Amino acid sequence: MKILAIETSCDETAAAIVEDGRKIISSVVNTQIEEHKKYGGVVPEIASRRHIENITSVVEQAFLDANMQSNEIDAIAVTAAPGLIGAVLVGVNFAKGLAMSLEKPLIPVHHIRGHIASNYITNAELKPPFLCLVVSGGHSHIVEVLDYTRFRVVGRTRDDAAGEAFDKAARSVGLTYPGGVLLDKLSQTGNPNTYPLPTPHTEGKYDFSFSGLKTAVINTVHNAEQKGIAIVREDMAASFCSKVADILWDRTEKAIKDLNYTSLAIAGGVSANSWLRRKATQECQKNNIKLYMPDLKLCGDNAAMIGSQGYYEYLEGNFANMALNGKPYMEIDAHF
Ligand code: KG4
Ligand code: ZN
Repeated sequence: MKILAIETSCDETAAAIVEDGRKIISSVVNTQIEEHKKYGGVVPEIASRRHIENITSVVEQAFLDANMQSNEIDAIAVTAAPGLIGAVLVGVNFAKGLAMSLEKPLIPVHHIRGHIASNYITNAELKPPFLCLVVSGGHSHIVEVLDYTRFRVVGRTRDDAAGEAFDKAARSVGLTYPGGVLLDKLSQTGNPNTYPLPTPHTEGKYDFSFSGLKTAVINTVHNAEQKGIAIVREDMAASFCSKVADILWDRTEKAIKDLNYTSLAIAGGVSANSWLRRKATQECQKNNIKLYMPDLKLCGDNAAMIGSQGYYEYLEGNFANMALNGKPYMEIDAHF
């Protein structure tokens, strides 16, 4: 069964054709990063306009790469929440129009469910139940994946998302948006013990907090500047990356142990972070936990992950009609 998937929830216009939830036939990602970089972050109005300009050619390219005609697909999946609402609506409306004209079923997909599903593409043997740490630009969650379409959030950030903290820390050491990946690169030659950064406390034992950590980086850089001392950027990058990986692992490990999971997946843009991947790999080996991570190219936003989750939503009969609307916010366990 072949699903055309569409993703436009932030600054990537993406389309993919995925077979049986696990195999990518084609995947096209058109990123707008260069344009948003000038403003230090995603400008929602610009994102929506670029999605409108790009969506037709991105979907056409997905069919061309797959060597398929539009009527050869079985269903259309689309990210319908959460995200920048003007951006989400471009994908939703395009998918509705296509579903109506091709007379194919329409499947709304939750973006975070999609990030989790990126692991099904990379890891053929992965099946629920498992625990998943989802860390992206907008979310930091620890989620029980009870089944392909049943989820329970056990931990979440109380303030900033991990990706947001990476981007702000990156900016304070002079890197451009989105700085997470650049900070990761810069950190490779740095010493993680140079700058002591605080470990935030949260009431919920699986919850996260990153805003204090972000402020500590900004203050350390600012104080050094005022004293005329040069900060060692590589060391600050390494200190920050290592601290975030430790915090993410600390909460995740507690949840795995308390809830008796033997399998862990990580997902979302920040799951590309080398410190997090290394920490999770080492700790899972030590604790006899099976670890699943998406391919680096599937960590960030893409439509293949939406096609993967869309397949499992299809099997559950989770379809939408022409009244489907996009939503800026939605819990992962809610229904469209
Ligand atoms: O999942 P994603 O592509 O978009 C959202 O759904 O939010 O996540 C984007 C976030 C950005 O904050 C970006 O800086 C961060 O993921 N990111 C990284 C790395 N690659 C992307 N953060 C740390 N290290 C990386 N290697
Ligand atoms: Zn995302």
